[in-house]
Amino acid sequence: MKQNIVVLSGAGVSAESGLKTFRDSDGLWEEYSIMEVATPEAWERNPELVLKFYNERRTQMRSAKPNAAHIALAKLEEYFNVAIVTQNVDDLHERGGSTKVLHLHGELNQSRSVKHPRFVYEIEGNEINMGDTCERGSQLRPNIVWFGEEVPMITPAIQLITKANIILVIGTSLNVYPAAGLLYHAPYGSRKYLIDPAENDGSVIYKLEHIRVNAGVAVPRLVDQLIHEITSAD
Ligand code: OAD
Repeated sequence: MKQNIVVLSGAGVSAESGLKTFRDSDGLWEEYSIMEVATPEAWERNPELVLKFYNERRTQMRSAKPNAAHIALAKLEEYFNVAIVTQNVDDLHERGGSTKVLHLHGELNQSRSVKHPRFVYEIEGNEINMGDTCERGSQLRPNIVWFGEEVPMITPAIQLITKANIILVIGTSLNVYPAAGLLYHAPYGSRKYLIDPAENDGSVIYKLEHIRVNAGVAVPRLVDQLIHEITSAD
């Protein structure tokens, strides 16, 4: 039987693809304050600005390419049951070849009805604009979990992590809950790694083996090591 690997990823896994992380930029996110663009209040105040911000992020994402870390993670699937639980709203894990990706904070590629949240659509073209509506006539917004909103995907994520044999935490500051709290559900005895070049308090709090190297280098190396262990044990 294959072992279960759960990957918990954050902005750092996409850094080497040219997408900026959040906390490395003085509270600004691509020149915008997070509170100005990523909260329900921001949407109430200035929906045009919020749409513009996410339209720009989507365009930027589509010109970015998966890096060596995303591609290496996909390689694991031949030998392990792999689930990626990502805080990222980009699609670089999918484009890197991973087939089971759960997006805790939503997806840039999707829109959602403001009034009927069950209506979620893949975005055709690059933009959501004012006046774009769902099949019931309500305005569409990005299908992103904003600060202060519920995180519905946390329940399936907990189910995945409670069955993990190996947990790879990659490129997240572990500052944002409930995502970071997932690690409290890691089974006793599971192997837990953190790949992040910077100091990270989470490594102590959650007892992670901290590899202080960029994901583009460390992930392929760790993936090869895990595959080697499994194939030489057969
Ligand atoms: P952060 O910006 O908080 O953390 C990024 C982490 O990646 C930091 O610890 C960096 O040291 C690390 N890092 C930077 N470059 C790296 C590299 N090349 N390889 C590996 N690690 C690297 O991003 P997240 O933890 O993902 O939420 O942030 C969590 C959530 O807060 C986001 O999903 C977003 C944000 O505000 C929402 O939008 C709801």
